[in-house]
Amino acid sequence: MIPSDFVDDLLSRIDIVDVISDYVPLKKGGQNYVACCPFHKEKTPSFTVAPNKQFYHCFGCGAHGSAIGFLMEYAHLSFADAVEKLANRIGMRVPHTQNRETHQEREEKKRQRVSLVDYMVQCANFYHKQLALSTRAQDYLRNRGLNAEIVSRFSLGYAPAQWQALQNIFDDYPSKDLISSGMVLEKEGRYYDRFRDRIMFPIRDVTGQVVAFGGRILDSGEPKYLNSPETPIFNKGSHLYGLYEARADIRQEHKVVVVEGYMDVVALAQHNIGYAVATLGTATTSEHIRLLFRQTDTIYFCFDGDTAGRKSAWRALENSLSQLQDDKGIYFLFLPPEHDPDSYVREYGSEFFSGSLKKDSIPLSRYWLNELMRDIDTNTQEGRAELIHRATPHLSEIKAVNLKYLLTQNLAQTVGMDIADIQYLLGQQLPVKKHTYRKARFPNKTFRQPRLSTLAQQQIKWLLINPKWEKYVEMPEYLLLSEEYAILAELSALIRENNLSSTEQVWENLRNHEYEEVLHRIWCENAKISEEFGELDEDDEIMFRQGMQRLALTIRDEQVNELVAKSKYQSLTATEQELLKNLLIRN
Ligand code: CTP
Ligand code: MN
Repeated sequence: MIPSDFVDDLLSRIDIVDVISDYVPLKKGGQNYVACCPFHKEKTPSFTVAPNKQFYHCFGCGAHGSAIGFLMEYAHLSFADAVEKLANRIGMRVPHTQNRETHQEREEKKRQRVSLVDYMVQCANFYHKQLALSTRAQDYLRNRGLNAEIVSRFSLGYAPAQWQALQNIFDDYPSKDLISSGMVLEKEGRYYDRFRDRIMFPIRDVTGQVVAFGGRILDSGEPKYLNSPETPIFNKGSHLYGLYEARADIRQEHKVVVVEGYMDVVALAQHNIGYAVATLGTATTSEHIRLLFRQTDTIYFCFDGDTAGRKSAWRALENSLSQLQDDKGIYFLFLPPEHDPDSYVREYGSEFFSGSLKKDSIPLSRYWLNELMRDIDTNTQEGRAELIHRATPHLSEIKAVNLKYLLTQNLAQTVGMDIADIQYLLGQQLPVKKHTYRKARFPNKTFRQPRLSTLAQQQIKWLLINPKWEKYVEMPEYLLLSEEYAILAELSALIRENNLSSTEQVWENLRNHEYEEVLHRIWCENAKISEEFGELDEDDEIMFRQGMQRLALTIRDEQVNELVAKSKYQSLTATEQELLKNLLIRN
């Protein structure tokens, strides 16, 4: 971990132009430097380095970032290595809040992983052989409707009812690695197998390597399932049961079904639904979704029809938001409460099951809004406010531009608001606000302010006096505006949309408007100056126009700085990237 104030300090001392010119021949072009982009093929330079912003940006491919980001992208360095390299350049030492692992530690970890993987393969083979020796275990699987083909597809096995069965295959029982693998436990100096008298489900990673096990009890004892603990080779949040076995079917069917149980996966496969995978007794994570979207474009969640299943579905939705893509889809199929996928496919058959996926599943977008509105009365202001309150954090997480827009529009319609207003609210919740804008402070009534305090207030005032000047108001694109700018934007929109041409008309339209009061204050506090405006002449008009241009530049600059500052620490969302690009282009 590198302290962030060190990173700030580092970035303030190096010059991005220096750093990048070590790798890319830069040419001066106006204020900035340009070159052919090193991140994509091009003949005319669209890669720009801005020394005053210490930021690079390619108008062709959208690559952008700080000097650190450049090294990460260009030289394929990790964040820590990029920081290290830049620090070395100017003789700074990188403070670490935690020691980085040594070469030896890394080597030891590598060795251990190889050893664990080897143990797991041997265990899987052992359990599979033991199944052939246990009629009780075979009967259990047969009673659950599984045939030999499926048993072998999933390499199901049986852990015998002995305390140290694994001693039969491991001479080094109980070695340190065997204990790290989670297969052997220690208690008061005695060692014994974790899995005893259980049906064994080997869990593989995407390459087919066995990395863990799930073990089901044969009768109705507790706990029903035992699972491998997290180990150096197994992480529940990033592995999925059955993914390796299902990969061909997933590709062929262009979809994957995510269920909750090992038995669901196996039973579906028994009924020719080979494209099912299960989470490992935990919630679906973003990592899971990322993994699945690498294999296919369509994910169906099919959870049990009970309350627990509905909870899992909602968790899955929440963790999907950041992974949504415009060309990929996520659907939810809710089974009747008495069913899980296993019992459902056994009762109704595979055709019916795949039919249900198509007909009865609902797209994430619909499930999202339905579920958010579940206990809300959208006929009341309070209900609608609550709905927006619940929905906006979700919308902020979505990076898929089109989907985000459509969901926002959907929400806007539901609450009867303008989509732009919701987008504005969304902007306020973006993490962009790290260094917040100077909040406009409006002079309060007791404080006599003889002069207009800011350019923005001056422009607002003039606009109130002469609404026709609205034609000169040109705001840059924005995600986020400080209060004064927002008021100016809102006021000009009001004038434009209602075609207002006199001050009285404007006030009429502002009645009960959220900005009525603050506009009134701007108007009154500066009454003296408004008298001077008695006769407006051409000069005033020119001043207003120039003021507007200056203001637009300021707003644009503030936003660029904000986005650039943010991008040093986290990646920008697609919308933010797009905005930044547009703002820079018009610079
Ligand atoms: N699970 C677990 N530990 C338990 C119970 C459940 O880890 N004590 C996990 C397992 O991954 C299991 C999943 O949660 O597969 C779903 O549980 P459940 O629906 O009870 O299991 P099924 O797979 O449906 O098993 P079965 O049909 O044999 O009851
Ligand atoms: Mn079940």
